Amino acid sequence: MKDRQNIHGSWASRWVFIMAATGSAVGLGNIWKFPYIAGQNGGGAFVLVYLVCILAVGVPIMMAEVLVGRRGRQSPINSMREVAIEADHSPKWALVGWIGALAGFLIFSFYSVVAGWVLAYVAAMANGEFLEVGSEQAGKVFNDLLADPQALLIWHTVFVVLVMWILLGGVNKGLERATKIMMPALFVLLLLLLGYSMSSGAFGQGLDFLFHFDPSALSWHAVLVALGHSFFTLSLGMGSIMAYGSYMPKNASIGGTVLTIAALDTVVALVAGMAIFPIVFANSLDPGAGPGLMFITLPVAFGHMPGGQVFGFLFFVLVALAAWTSAISLMEPGVAWMVERLGLKRGPVCIMLGFVVWLMGIAALSSFNFGSGVSIFGMNIFDFLDFITANIFLPLGGLFIALFAGWVVTQRITRDELAMTTPGVYVAWSVMIRYIAPIAVAVIFIFNLIDKLG
Ligand code: PHE
Ligand code: NA
Repeated sequence: MKDRQNIHGSWASRWVFIMAATGSAVGLGNIWKFPYIAGQNGGGAFVLVYLVCILAVGVPIMMAEVLVGRRGRQSPINSMREVAIEADHSPKWALVGWIGALAGFLIFSFYSVVAGWVLAYVAAMANGEFLEVGSEQAGKVFNDLLADPQALLIWHTVFVVLVMWILLGGVNKGLERATKIMMPALFVLLLLLLGYSMSSGAFGQGLDFLFHFDPSALSWHAVLVALGHSFFTLSLGMGSIMAYGSYMPKNASIGGTVLTIAALDTVVALVAGMAIFPIVFANSLDPGAGPGLMFITLPVAFGHMPGGQVFGFLFFVLVALAAWTSAISLMEPGVAWMVERLGLKRGPVCIMLGFVVWLMGIAALSSFNFGSGVSIFGMNIFDFLDFITANIFLPLGGLFIALFAGWVVTQRITRDELAMTTPGVYVAWSVMIRYIAPIAVAVIFIFNLIDKLG
């Protein structure tokens, strides 16, 4: 049995790993994206398909990422190389790690812009800017923000600095310490908001919308969106979970740990939905409002409710924390690789990489103002970054990770790392990672392309 040491450090316990990986998973994907895509795709029908995807595709691939990371004990790029070599295969598998690290940068550059909007809303809520405003006025506030490159730049810069500041501290003094403070805060805020929405009067209507299964609302498109989102929401396909797995203690069980993380991510998405839809219905607003649901619809609702200013403020603080812990994990694969490869300290690496993503973020935020004329395959820069990462990079990365873990890494290694005690569970994982997950991901990938091109 091999256990290498990780030069970056390791999590103090299995529980810290669970919190850190949950911090990566729980982000804008859960609170901003999930409610609005569920709203647009028929509520309950969509939710059921999404849950199936999490279990059938997300969980086995997350186990694969954790096991490869923990076996390699390095950045995803170098772990893929090490584990490939240990299995007598080509070190060129490191390429999958490279594509993942690049995807992390691309996702970061628009994620940071959305996180910047969230920070702007924390300030706006604190100032009571949405008190008594109507939908039209709230729409104007949002569009004015998008049209103001200076404001966007300031908030984007603040977010990049916050993220790099945590990364700079390293695994134990940065990531672990931040996780231990931010994750409990996140869960307390979430429960508080859930309580608030339960007392808002339309809780039953919100629940019904989320959980009433109406097969007629189910389209192929909705199924594809659900599959793709299950990938994004679990931070899979680009190495974040692999990097965090490389800091995981050897004696912790991968299967149970991964199930816990996936369950927590799912619960947060559902609770976010249960907190948002009742507020939307109580104020007779449209659940299918799209990406503006969180930035236009919700502030209107908060502006008309008792205690709405305080809870609106807390809500956006919650979203900011969630985005923060996710963004840290987007950069960790790149940071760890540069430290290993160039032998530099985390400080200079974080400053350099921070500068690069800061510049890329400026390109993304210009999509709404001075750069709105730029069009790539008919999309602005922001939409293009969102599209190529969610629909191309992550599915492709996940497909290759599944193929790698299922067909390249020897059974001796996977059995050793997974250390399953219940008979049949290893075989089940093996079937999922070799056949079910790759086929499902290939289908999403191809259908998304056909959908977009055709
Ligand atoms: N899982 C995060 C979310 O739901 C986004 C993310 C994707 C983070 C990929 C890291 C890697 O918001
Ligand atoms: Na998520």
